Amino acid sequence: MNSEVYEPDEDTYFLEEQIKKLVKIRKFKSVLEMGTGLGYISLSIADKVNKILGVDINPKAVEFAEKNRKEQGIENIEFKLSNLFENVIERFDLIFFNPPYLPGKDDLSCDGGEKGQELIEKFLIEVRKHLNKEGIGVILLSSFNNISELEKRFNLIKLDELKLFFETLYCYKILK
Ligand SMILES: C[S@@+](CC[C@H](N)C(=O)[O-])C[C@H]1O[C@@H](n2cnc3c(N)ncnc32)[C@H](O)[C@@H]1O
Repeated sequence: MNSEVYEPDEDTYFLEEQIKKLVKIRKFKSVLEMGTGLGYISLSIADKVNKILGVDINPKAVEFAEKNRKEQGIENIEFKLSNLFENVIERFDLIFFNPPYLPGKDDLSCDGGEKGQELIEKFLIEVRKHLNKEGIGVILLSSFNNISELEKRFNLIKLDELKLFFETLYCYKILK
């Protein structure tokens, strides 16, 4: 199993852009970043929201994200270890996730299960339980996933897409 911590990439920046648009138009009191990695997106929106929890299954990610938080002197983010929602009891106004979405099981950062979307499905089954009444979820998906199936099964609303050379990235909104 490769458990290197994911470095921000095109998918990170695309999701960051969508999240920044949302936090500009609405004041979110509580935010959860699932699979926070180095904490890049959470750290970049910390001044626009009240409180953020960033979780990751990779202890190294949590350690590095916490180091980055301290270095930047940011007080309103907590990073902690969690396999999806296992250690998350609260509900949030905003939950976002840049998930591992490639087929495979060897790389914690990129592999989302045999079909590439088993982890995504688990997240989508649980996420609404952790949203407040008017809460919003945002997930990044890829053309490597079965987008039309996920869209229909989980009632997802497309926010935007980004065509890359070898794939298209999508951001989807999840309403409570
Ligand atoms: C594509 S990376 C995204 C990292 C970061 N959020 C970003 O946008 O750059 C996916 C992240 O999900 C984490 N992850 C994988 N499986 C997870 C699980 N079951 N629960 C929580 N986090 C998980 C990985 O460790 C990795 O940090």
